[in-house]
Amino acid sequence: MQNSFADLMDAPVTIHKDFPLKEFNTFGLQSTAEYFIKIDSETQLEEFFTWKKIHLPEKPSLILGGGSNVVLGDFIPGFVVKLSVKGKKTERLKDHTLFSLATSEIWHEAVLYSLEMGLQGLENLALIPGDCGTSPVQNIGAYGVEICDIFHSCRAYNIASGEWKSFFLEDCDFEYRNSFFKQNKDWVITEVTFQLQHIEENFALKIQYGTIQEELEKLNISKPSPNDIANAVIKIRSEKLPNPNIVGNAGSFFKNPVVHHQVAEEIKLEYPDLPTYPTSSNNSVKIPAAFLIEKSGWKGKVLGNVGMDSRQALVLINVTGKATGKEIYQFSGEIIEAIFQHFGILLEREVNCLYCV
Ligand code: EPU
Repeated sequence: MQNSFADLMDAPVTIHKDFPLKEFNTFGLQSTAEYFIKIDSETQLEEFFTWKKIHLPEKPSLILGGGSNVVLGDFIPGFVVKLSVKGKKTERLKDHTLFSLATSEIWHEAVLYSLEMGLQGLENLALIPGDCGTSPVQNIGAYGVEICDIFHSCRAYNIASGEWKSFFLEDCDFEYRNSFFKQNKDWVITEVTFQLQHIEENFALKIQYGTIQEELEKLNISKPSPNDIANAVIKIRSEKLPNPNIVGNAGSFFKNPVVHHQVAEEIKLEYPDLPTYPTSSNNSVKIPAAFLIEKSGWKGKVLGNVGMDSRQALVLINVTGKATGKEIYQFSGEIIEAIFQHFGILLEREVNCLYCV
Protein backbone atom coordinates (compact mmCIF):
# COMPACT_ATOMS: atom_id res chain seq x y z
CA MET A 1 0.00 0.00 0.00
CA GLN A 2 1.33 3.43 -0.92
CA ASN A 3 1.35 5.87 2.01
CA SER A 4 0.23 9.39 1.35
CA PHE A 5 2.43 12.39 2.09
CA ALA A 6 -0.23 13.60 4.55
CA ASP A 7 0.09 10.37 6.60
CA LEU A 8 3.81 10.95 7.08
CA MET A 9 3.50 14.69 7.75
CA ASP A 10 1.15 13.91 10.58
CA ALA A 11 3.76 11.89 12.50
CA PRO A 12 5.17 13.14 15.85
CA VAL A 13 8.75 13.01 14.44
CA THR A 14 10.28 14.01 11.11
CA ILE A 15 10.28 11.11 8.67
CA HIS A 16 12.95 10.95 5.97
CA LYS A 17 12.23 8.87 2.89
CA ASP A 18 14.88 6.79 1.01
CA PHE A 19 17.50 7.62 3.59
CA PRO A 20 21.18 6.51 3.22
CA LEU A 21 22.47 4.41 6.14
CA LYS A 22 26.21 4.29 5.34
CA GLU A 23 27.07 6.46 8.35
CA PHE A 24 24.90 4.40 10.67
CA ASN A 25 26.56 0.97 10.35
CA THR A 26 30.18 0.15 11.17
CA PHE A 27 30.51 -2.03 8.04
CA GLY A 28 29.94 1.21 6.07
CA LEU A 29 27.37 -0.49 3.82
CA GLN A 30 25.48 1.60 1.27
CA SER A 31 22.05 0.61 2.43
CA THR A 32 18.87 2.69 2.00
CA ALA A 33 16.01 2.90 4.48
CA GLU A 34 12.52 3.27 3.06
CA TYR A 35 11.80 5.58 6.02
CA PHE A 36 14.21 6.87 8.64
CA ILE A 37 13.56 8.65 11.92
CA LYS A 38 15.69 9.79 14.85
CA ILE A 39 14.31 9.38 18.36
CA ASP A 40 15.80 11.53 21.09
CA SER A 41 13.72 10.71 24.18
CA GLU A 42 11.69 7.94 25.77
CA THR A 43 8.55 10.08 25.32
CA GLN A 44 9.23 10.43 21.61
CA LEU A 45 9.78 6.68 21.28
CA GLU A 46 6.39 5.97 22.81
CA GLU A 47 4.66 8.72 20.81
CA PHE A 48 6.08 7.46 17.54
CA PHE A 49 5.10 3.83 18.03
CA THR A 50 1.63 4.78 19.29
CA TRP A 51 1.19 6.83 16.09
CA LYS A 52 2.61 4.08 13.90
CA LYS A 53 0.29 1.45 15.34
CA ILE A 54 -2.67 3.54 14.18
CA HIS A 55 -1.37 4.84 10.84
CA LEU A 56 1.14 2.35 9.42
CA PRO A 57 0.85 -0.88 11.41
CA GLU A 58 1.90 -3.01 8.43
CA LYS A 59 5.34 -1.38 8.08
CA PRO A 60 8.22 -3.22 9.81
CA SER A 61 10.63 -1.36 12.10
CA LEU A 62 14.31 -1.84 12.62
CA ILE A 63 15.76 -0.26 15.74
CA LEU A 64 19.34 0.88 15.28
CA GLY A 65 21.76 1.58 18.12
CA GLY A 66 25.42 2.08 17.21
CA GLY A 67 25.07 -0.14 14.11
CA SER A 68 28.12 -2.12 15.23
CA ASN A 69 26.60 -5.57 15.01
CA VAL A 70 24.55 -5.52 11.80
CA VAL A 71 24.95 -6.38 8.15
CA LEU A 72 22.34 -4.41 6.20
CA GLY A 73 20.94 -5.40 2.81
CA ASP A 74 20.69 -2.80 0.02
CA PHE A 75 17.15 -1.77 0.95
CA ILE A 76 15.50 -1.82 4.38
CA PRO A 77 11.71 -1.75 4.04
CA GLY A 78 9.63 0.18 6.58
CA PHE A 79 11.14 2.31 9.33
CA VAL A 80 14.72 2.45 10.49
CA VAL A 81 14.58 4.00 13.94
CA LYS A 82 17.86 5.52 15.04
CA LEU A 83 17.97 5.95 18.81
CA SER A 84 19.65 9.10 20.01
CA VAL A 85 18.77 9.24 23.71
CA LYS A 86 21.61 10.52 25.92
CA GLY A 87 22.24 10.82 29.66
CA LYS A 88 24.13 9.18 32.51
CA LYS A 89 23.91 9.17 36.29
CA THR A 90 25.53 7.50 39.30
CA GLU A 91 23.97 6.65 42.64
CA ARG A 92 26.29 5.63 45.47
CA LEU A 93 24.82 3.02 47.80
CA LYS A 94 26.33 1.39 50.89
CA ASP A 95 28.51 -1.24 49.21
CA HIS A 96 28.30 -0.44 45.50
CA THR A 97 27.41 2.27 43.01
CA LEU A 98 24.68 2.14 40.40
CA PHE A 99 25.80 3.58 37.06
CA SER A 100 22.91 4.25 34.66
CA LEU A 101 23.29 5.08 30.99
CA ALA A 102 20.71 6.14 28.44
CA THR A 103 20.61 3.87 25.42
CA SER A 104 22.64 6.02 22.99
CA GLU A 105 25.60 6.78 25.24
CA ILE A 106 28.69 5.45 23.47
CA TRP A 107 29.99 2.33 25.22
CA HIS A 108 33.71 3.15 25.27
CA GLU A 109 33.06 6.70 26.50
CA ALA A 110 30.91 5.28 29.30
CA VAL A 111 33.75 2.93 30.31
CA LEU A 112 36.21 5.86 30.46
CA TYR A 113 33.71 7.98 32.42
CA SER A 114 33.20 5.18 34.99
CA LEU A 115 36.98 5.06 35.53
CA GLU A 116 37.15 8.85 35.93
CA MET A 117 34.42 8.56 38.56
CA GLY A 118 36.60 6.07 40.49
CA LEU A 119 34.44 3.06 39.62
CA GLN A 120 35.61 -0.41 38.69
CA GLY A 121 33.92 -3.25 36.80
CA LEU A 122 33.88 -2.08 33.18
CA GLU A 123 37.66 -1.80 32.60
CA ASN A 124 38.04 -5.11 30.69
CA LEU A 125 35.34 -3.97 28.27
CA ALA A 126 37.14 -0.85 27.01
CA LEU A 127 37.03 -0.02 23.29
CA ILE A 128 34.11 -2.30 22.39
CA PRO A 129 32.27 -0.46 19.62
CA GLY A 130 28.58 0.39 19.89
CA ASP A 131 26.09 2.05 22.20
CA CYS A 132 25.19 1.23 25.81
CA GLY A 133 21.58 0.25 25.16
CA THR A 134 22.47 -2.65 22.93
CA SER A 135 25.12 -4.06 25.29
CA PRO A 136 22.65 -6.42 27.05
CA VAL A 137 21.26 -7.73 23.74
CA GLN A 138 24.52 -9.48 22.86
CA ASN A 139 25.68 -9.74 26.48
CA ILE A 140 28.87 -8.13 25.18
CA GLY A 141 32.10 -9.46 26.60
CA ALA A 142 35.86 -9.40 26.34
CA TYR A 143 38.93 -10.44 28.32
CA GLY A 144 37.13 -12.59 30.86
CA VAL A 145 34.18 -10.27 31.61
CA GLU A 146 30.65 -10.22 30.20
CA ILE A 147 28.18 -7.50 31.03
CA CYS A 148 25.98 -9.99 32.89
CA ASP A 149 28.76 -9.98 35.55
CA ILE A 150 28.04 -6.34 36.47
CA PHE A 151 24.47 -5.95 35.17
CA HIS A 152 21.92 -4.53 37.60
CA SER A 153 18.83 -3.74 35.50
CA CYS A 154 17.51 -2.10 32.37
CA ARG A 155 14.39 -0.27 31.33
CA ALA A 156 12.71 -1.23 28.07
CA TYR A 157 9.69 -0.41 25.92
CA ASN A 158 7.71 -2.92 23.92
CA ILE A 159 7.02 -1.43 20.49
CA ALA A 160 4.19 -3.89 19.81
CA SER A 161 2.25 -3.73 23.10
CA GLY A 162 3.29 -0.26 24.32
CA GLU A 163 4.35 -1.67 27.72
CA TRP A 164 7.26 -0.27 29.79
CA LYS A 165 9.15 -2.68 32.04
CA SER A 166 12.26 -2.92 34.22
CA PHE A 167 14.28 -6.08 33.73
CA PHE A 168 16.61 -7.41 36.43
CA LEU A 169 19.41 -9.95 36.04
CA GLU A 170 17.13 -12.97 36.50
CA ASP A 171 14.75 -11.73 33.76
CA CYS A 172 17.39 -11.41 31.04
CA ASP A 173 18.39 -15.06 30.31
CA PHE A 174 21.98 -14.01 29.70
CA GLU A 175 24.20 -16.54 27.93
CA TYR A 176 27.35 -16.26 25.84
CA ARG A 177 26.48 -13.53 23.26
CA ASN A 178 22.77 -14.13 23.85
CA SER A 179 19.91 -12.80 25.98
CA PHE A 180 16.14 -12.48 26.27
CA PHE A 181 16.40 -9.28 24.19
CA LYS A 182 18.14 -11.01 21.29
CA GLN A 183 15.21 -13.45 21.10
CA ASN A 184 12.44 -10.87 21.74
CA LYS A 185 13.08 -8.02 19.33
CA ASP A 186 9.95 -6.02 20.24
CA TRP A 187 11.66 -4.84 23.43
CA VAL A 188 13.78 -1.71 23.01
CA ILE A 189 16.19 -0.95 25.85
CA THR A 190 16.18 2.74 26.71
CA GLU A 191 18.39 2.71 29.81
CA VAL A 192 20.85 0.25 31.33
CA THR A 193 22.22 0.20 34.89
CA PHE A 194 25.41 -1.48 36.08
CA GLN A 195 26.42 -2.32 39.62
CA LEU A 196 30.02 -1.16 40.06
CA GLN A 197 32.50 -1.01 42.93
CA HIS A 198 34.47 1.95 44.18
CA ILE A 199 38.17 1.65 43.44
CA GLU A 200 39.11 2.08 47.12
CA GLU A 201 37.09 -1.08 47.92
CA ASN A 202 39.89 -3.03 46.23
CA PHE A 203 37.71 -5.55 44.48
CA ALA A 204 39.50 -8.36 42.62
CA LEU A 205 40.44 -7.38 39.08
CA LYS A 206 40.38 -9.83 36.18
CA ILE A 207 43.78 -10.00 34.55
CA GLN A 208 44.15 -13.69 33.75
CA TYR A 209 42.56 -13.64 30.32
CA GLY A 210 44.52 -13.44 27.08
CA THR A 211 47.51 -11.17 26.98
CA ILE A 212 46.46 -8.64 29.66
CA GLN A 213 48.99 -9.99 32.17
CA GLU A 214 51.72 -10.00 29.51
CA GLU A 215 50.91 -6.41 28.54
CA LEU A 216 51.05 -5.28 32.19
CA GLU A 217 54.41 -7.01 32.68
CA LYS A 218 55.82 -5.19 29.65
CA LEU A 219 54.83 -1.95 31.39
CA ASN A 220 56.34 -3.12 34.72
CA ILE A 221 53.00 -2.92 36.47
CA SER A 222 52.69 -5.50 39.24
CA LYS A 223 49.71 -4.03 41.11
CA PRO A 224 47.42 -2.83 38.32
CA SER A 225 44.60 -0.35 38.83
CA PRO A 226 41.36 -0.58 36.80
CA ASN A 227 42.81 2.22 34.64
CA ASP A 228 45.93 0.14 33.93
CA ILE A 229 43.75 -2.75 32.82
CA ALA A 230 41.65 -0.53 30.56
CA ASN A 231 44.87 0.84 29.00
CA ALA A 232 46.22 -2.68 28.44
CA VAL A 233 42.94 -3.75 26.81
CA ILE A 234 42.91 -0.62 24.62
CA LYS A 235 46.45 -1.39 23.49
CA ILE A 236 45.72 -5.06 22.74
CA ARG A 237 42.49 -4.30 20.88
CA SER A 238 44.03 -1.44 18.85
CA GLU A 239 46.92 -3.65 17.76
CA LYS A 240 44.75 -6.62 16.84
CA LEU A 241 41.34 -5.42 15.70
CA PRO A 242 40.79 -3.26 12.62
CA ASN A 243 39.35 0.20 13.34
CA PRO A 244 35.86 0.41 11.76
CA ASN A 245 36.50 4.08 10.94
CA ILE A 246 39.25 2.90 8.60
CA VAL A 247 37.98 -0.46 7.36
CA GLY A 248 34.35 -1.48 7.76
CA ASN A 249 33.77 -4.38 10.18
CA ALA A 250 31.65 -5.48 13.11
CA GLY A 251 34.23 -7.11 15.39
CA SER A 252 33.97 -10.88 15.70
CA PHE A 253 31.71 -12.11 12.91
CA PHE A 254 31.05 -15.60 14.29
CA LYS A 255 30.49 -16.93 17.80
CA ASN A 256 33.13 -19.18 19.30
CA PRO A 257 31.56 -22.66 19.05
CA VAL A 258 30.83 -24.76 22.11
CA VAL A 259 31.62 -28.41 21.33
CA HIS A 260 31.71 -31.74 23.17
CA HIS A 261 35.17 -32.16 24.71
CA GLN A 262 35.70 -35.30 22.58
CA VAL A 263 35.32 -33.19 19.43
CA ALA A 264 38.02 -30.85 20.75
CA GLU A 265 40.25 -33.83 21.57
CA GLU A 266 39.88 -35.14 18.00
CA ILE A 267 40.86 -31.75 16.54
CA LYS A 268 43.87 -31.70 18.90
CA LEU A 269 45.17 -34.91 17.32
CA GLU A 270 45.80 -32.88 14.17
CA TYR A 271 46.28 -29.46 15.82
CA PRO A 272 47.71 -29.97 19.35
CA ASP A 273 47.83 -26.19 19.95
CA LEU A 274 44.02 -25.78 19.82
CA PRO A 275 43.06 -23.63 22.85
CA THR A 276 39.98 -24.73 24.82
CA TYR A 277 38.00 -22.70 27.34
CA PRO A 278 35.74 -24.19 30.03
CA THR A 279 31.94 -23.74 29.86
CA SER A 280 29.25 -24.20 32.52
CA SER A 281 28.96 -27.86 31.45
CA ASN A 282 31.60 -30.52 32.20
CA ASN A 283 30.97 -32.19 28.85
CA SER A 284 31.69 -29.24 26.60
CA VAL A 285 34.37 -26.67 25.89
CA LYS A 286 34.46 -23.44 23.91
CA ILE A 287 37.01 -23.27 21.11
CA PRO A 288 38.13 -20.21 19.12
CA ALA A 289 36.40 -19.87 15.75
CA ALA A 290 39.44 -17.79 14.71
CA PHE A 291 41.64 -20.88 15.08
CA LEU A 292 39.35 -22.99 12.86
CA ILE A 293 39.16 -20.21 10.26
CA GLU A 294 42.93 -19.78 10.23
CA LYS A 295 43.64 -23.51 9.95
CA SER A 296 41.17 -23.78 7.06
CA GLY A 297 43.15 -21.20 5.13
CA TRP A 298 40.63 -18.35 5.35
CA LYS A 299 42.67 -15.90 7.45
CA GLY A 300 43.47 -12.88 5.26
CA LYS A 301 41.57 -14.36 2.31
CA VAL A 302 39.77 -11.82 0.11
CA LEU A 303 37.03 -12.52 -2.45
CA GLY A 304 35.82 -9.44 -4.32
CA ASN A 305 34.98 -6.68 -1.85
CA VAL A 306 35.01 -8.86 1.24
CA GLY A 307 37.66 -10.68 3.25
CA MET A 308 38.79 -12.05 6.61
CA ASP A 309 41.24 -9.82 8.44
CA SER A 310 44.88 -10.84 8.23
CA ARG A 311 45.59 -10.09 11.92
CA GLN A 312 42.43 -11.51 13.53
CA ALA A 313 40.84 -14.33 11.54
CA LEU A 314 37.42 -13.87 13.19
CA VAL A 315 36.89 -10.36 11.86
CA LEU A 316 35.20 -10.07 8.48
CA ILE A 317 36.06 -6.81 6.68
CA ASN A 318 34.63 -4.61 3.93
CA VAL A 319 37.97 -4.56 2.10
CA THR A 320 37.20 -2.09 -0.67
CA GLY A 321 34.49 -0.13 1.14
CA LYS A 322 32.12 -1.19 -1.64
CA ALA A 323 30.80 -4.46 -0.24
CA THR A 324 27.06 -5.15 -0.09
CA GLY A 325 25.18 -6.97 2.65
CA LYS A 326 24.45 -9.78 0.23
CA GLU A 327 28.16 -10.28 -0.54
CA ILE A 328 29.02 -10.36 3.16
CA TYR A 329 26.25 -12.84 3.83
CA GLN A 330 27.36 -15.09 0.96
CA PHE A 331 31.05 -14.89 1.89
CA SER A 332 30.27 -15.78 5.51
CA GLY A 333 28.17 -18.69 4.20
CA GLU A 334 31.21 -19.99 2.32
CA ILE A 335 33.25 -19.90 5.51
CA ILE A 336 30.54 -21.75 7.44
CA GLU A 337 30.55 -24.41 4.70
CA ALA A 338 34.37 -24.67 4.65
CA ILE A 339 34.66 -25.03 8.44
CA PHE A 340 31.93 -27.65 8.41
CA GLN A 341 33.74 -29.62 5.68
CA HIS A 342 37.09 -29.38 7.48
CA PHE A 343 36.08 -29.84 11.14
CA GLY A 344 32.41 -30.95 11.14
CA ILE A 345 31.56 -27.86 13.23
CA LEU A 346 28.76 -25.48 12.30
CA LEU A 347 29.76 -21.88 12.97
CA GLU A 348 27.03 -19.46 13.95
CA ARG A 349 27.05 -15.80 12.86
CA GLU A 350 27.30 -13.43 15.81
CA VAL A 351 26.40 -10.41 13.68
CA ASN A 352 22.75 -9.89 12.63
CA CYS A 353 22.29 -10.08 8.86
CA LEU A 354 19.15 -8.14 7.90
CA TYR A 355 17.50 -8.17 4.47
CA CYS A 356 20.68 -9.68 2.95
CA VAL A 357 19.21 -12.66 1.10
N1 EPU B 1 43.33 -17.18 17.06
C1 EPU B 1 43.80 -17.74 15.90
N2 EPU B 1 43.95 -16.93 14.83
C2 EPU B 1 43.65 -15.61 14.85
C3 EPU B 1 43.19 -15.04 16.05
C4 EPU B 1 43.03 -15.86 17.16
O1 EPU B 1 44.09 -18.93 15.84
O2 EPU B 1 43.80 -14.95 13.81
C5 EPU B 1 43.16 -18.07 18.23
C6 EPU B 1 44.32 -17.96 19.20
O3 EPU B 1 44.59 -19.25 19.68
C7 EPU B 1 43.79 -17.10 20.32
C8 EPU B 1 42.31 -17.48 20.32
O4 EPU B 1 41.99 -17.70 18.95
O5 EPU B 1 44.36 -17.41 21.54
C9 EPU B 1 41.39 -16.41 20.90
O6 EPU B 1 41.60 -15.19 20.18
P1 EPU B 1 41.21 -13.77 20.84
O7 EPU B 1 41.74 -13.67 22.22
O8 EPU B 1 41.59 -12.72 19.87
O9 EPU B 1 39.65 -13.83 21.02
P2 EPU B 1 38.46 -14.35 20.11
O10 EPU B 1 37.99 -15.66 20.66
O11 EPU B 1 38.80 -14.31 18.66
C10 EPU B 1 36.69 -13.22 21.68
C11 EPU B 1 35.50 -12.33 21.51
C12 EPU B 1 35.96 -10.91 21.24
C13 EPU B 1 36.79 -10.43 22.43
C14 EPU B 1 37.97 -11.37 22.59
C15 EPU B 1 38.81 -11.05 23.80
C16 EPU B 1 33.75 -13.74 20.58
C17 EPU B 1 32.95 -14.11 19.38
N3 EPU B 1 34.69 -12.81 20.41
O12 EPU B 1 37.37 -13.24 20.43
O13 EPU B 1 34.81 -10.07 21.16
O14 EPU B 1 37.25 -9.10 22.24
O15 EPU B 1 37.49 -12.74 22.75
O16 EPU B 1 38.10 -11.37 24.95
O17 EPU B 1 33.50 -14.29 21.66
C18 EPU B 1 33.28 -9.26 19.53
O18 EPU B 1 32.44 -9.99 20.04
O19 EPU B 1 33.00 -8.52 18.55
C19 EPU B 1 34.63 -9.28 20.02
C20 EPU B 1 35.62 -8.61 19.43
